[in-house]
Amino acid sequence: MSSASGHGAIALRHAGPADAAAVAAVFSPSVRLLTFLPRLHTVEEDRRFITDVILKDCEVSVAELEGRIVSFLARDGQEVRLLHTHPDFIGRGAGGRLLEAAKQEDVEALELWCFQANIGGRRFYEAHGFKAIAFTDGQRNEEKTPDVRYRWERA
Ligand SMILES: CC(C)(COP(=O)(O)OP(=O)(O)OC[C@H]1O[C@@H](n2cnc3c(N)ncnc32)[C@H](O)[C@@H]1OP(=O)(O)O)[C@@H](O)C(=O)NCCC(=O)NCCS
Repeated sequence: MSSASGHGAIALRHAGPADAAAVAAVFSPSVRLLTFLPRLHTVEEDRRFITDVILKDCEVSVAELEGRIVSFLARDGQEVRLLHTHPDFIGRGAGGRLLEAAKQEDVEALELWCFQANIGGRRFYEAHGFKAIAFTDGQRNEEKTPDVRYRWERA
């Protein structure tokens, strides 16, 4: 799964339980970039969520730059549960590489939820061929924040 790209030596690999702390260290600051969200969880709760839920329920892939995890994607079947890049490494191609790699897995489609107010995230998914298929009023998620369902299908 590892390869280099024009963005520098980004390497992709599958994550395991030993990566929990490093994945959580990407997740917490990345989710806090979404300043329109209420702050519902502490950093410690984030770490437990990554360890006890995400790394158990999902296939997690990480992008490393010089041996440091800078981005991760958590997929549960066709559902992309989480995709986050550490704020210091946004825009270097790591998230795009992980999303394109997920399309190469044994899936016919990928779907995900994105907050409607996450303009950068929406631009990112749309640039990668995802189409908005549903909009909610936010009552379905714990943040009570309107979101949008995105879907990509293999051509
Ligand atoms: C969305 C996200 C995962 C993309 O990861 P990444 O490693 O920066 O992705 P890439 O470098 O491959 O692509 C960068 C693109 O992401 C988009 N983007 C999203 N948020 C951005 C931000 N805060 N700053 C700059 N670009 C952002 C832009 O479209 C950018 O493309 P551009 O340079 O042509 O404008 C990352 O910005 C992130 O973690 N954001 C905060 C958390 C989040 O929104 N996660 C998705 C929740 S559904």
